Amino acid sequence: MFDANLIESFFIQETPFYYYDLTLLQKTLSTAKQVADVHGFQVHYALKANFNDRILNLIREAGFGADCVSGNEVRKAIEIGFNAGDVVFAGVGKSDKEISDALDYDIFAFNVESIEELKVINALAADRGKKARVALRINPNVDAQTHQYITTGLDENKFGIAYWQLGDAVEVLGQSEHLELIGIHFHIGSQIIDLNVFKSLCVKVNELNNWFDERGFRLRVLNVGGGLGVDYHQPDVHPIPDFRSYFSIFNDFLERKPGQEVHFELGRALVSQCGSLISRVLYVKNGLKKNFLILDAGMTELMRPALYQAYHQIEKLTAATESDEEQLRYDVVGPICESTDCFGKEVPLPKCERGDLIAIRTAGAYGEVMASRYNLRDEIRYVYSPVLTDVSN
Ligand code: LLP
Repeated sequence: MFDANLIESFFIQETPFYYYDLTLLQKTLSTAKQVADVHGFQVHYALKANFNDRILNLIREAGFGADCVSGNEVRKAIEIGFNAGDVVFAGVGKSDKEISDALDYDIFAFNVESIEELKVINALAADRGKKARVALRINPNVDAQTHQYITTGLDENKFGIAYWQLGDAVEVLGQSEHLELIGIHFHIGSQIIDLNVFKSLCVKVNELNNWFDERGFRLRVLNVGGGLGVDYHQPDVHPIPDFRSYFSIFNDFLERKPGQEVHFELGRALVSQCGSLISRVLYVKNGLKKNFLILDAGMTELMRPALYQAYHQIEKLTAATESDEEQLRYDVVGPICESTDCFGKEVPLPKCERGDLIAIRTAGAYGEVMASRYNLRDEIRYVYSPVLTDVSN
């Protein structure tokens, strides 16, 4: 990903910064879009993964819709130029103001997570003399086989409406003149590597699709959420996720009724690999038991390792020298006053010294969006690669 010219250009930049390879992003987007189009699938990009303006503009231009989880994300999507009709709004705790604003924008649909929320949306739509399009987010109790903190589709999770509440939900829908049920929605978790999990999801979606059909609801949309994982261990081997296998599973196992649309909400798979956090070595500290590489980036810029013990590949970028032949093991840490401020333990790297550049890879999703100003850190800085003018190349 980093050639000598690029590395040289990094040296004159103030660190730390996020580097976004917009060419890779465009290739990833066009691959995903082409494969989705083959099956007639629609993808709403999950803004929560990265809402950087440059990235959002390319995603909109590539023909994706927007999946939002806050009023501000809905507003951002509209400001960037996504059509309101391509915006969906999910989240367990939508405030009255957020719902009202989204109704005023006339977004495509609300993914509703509780029976109480149905009643609130109905009342707020009534105030405006409108009919709100809603999809019920159903908790399918499918184990996503991923990190417990990013599993969302189990009975013990706070998300969605449980099976046993569906009768009540349908009753409320029947009494709500200002709601139009357009579909059912699912999202079982993130960073899912075992694609068989999505087969299990399809089985549940089919059951529920039939359940609604038997009760006279002709659902227009089956929304199966996001969750496709990326290769954090070999970003250069798999820079673009396997969209073909992923979408094929839904094509093969989801039973669409005539005219039904299938919607996806991918976040990580679209933006992870295009982003790296670039940082400088401030100090090398050789301890009795450990060698520490102290960077000028920390958990404030990329929180995933501290929060989920997430693995990110760490690379020394400085042009190769003789000393590179000597491999050492470092605990790569940041400057923040917390022991969890660590990007990796015992990381094998060529010998490093003060001033060397370090890249932390696969940081395009849930990186800068989860940054904080803890310790009164600087605002995030960016460097972008040029964009392709002809994406087909
Ligand atoms: N739809 C819904 C309703 C979601 O909750 C999410 C992610 C997505 C779509 C997009 O999922 P993706 O395709 O990106 O897996 N901060 C964590 C990930 C949290 C994911 C939250 N929901 C991390 O850094 O791993």
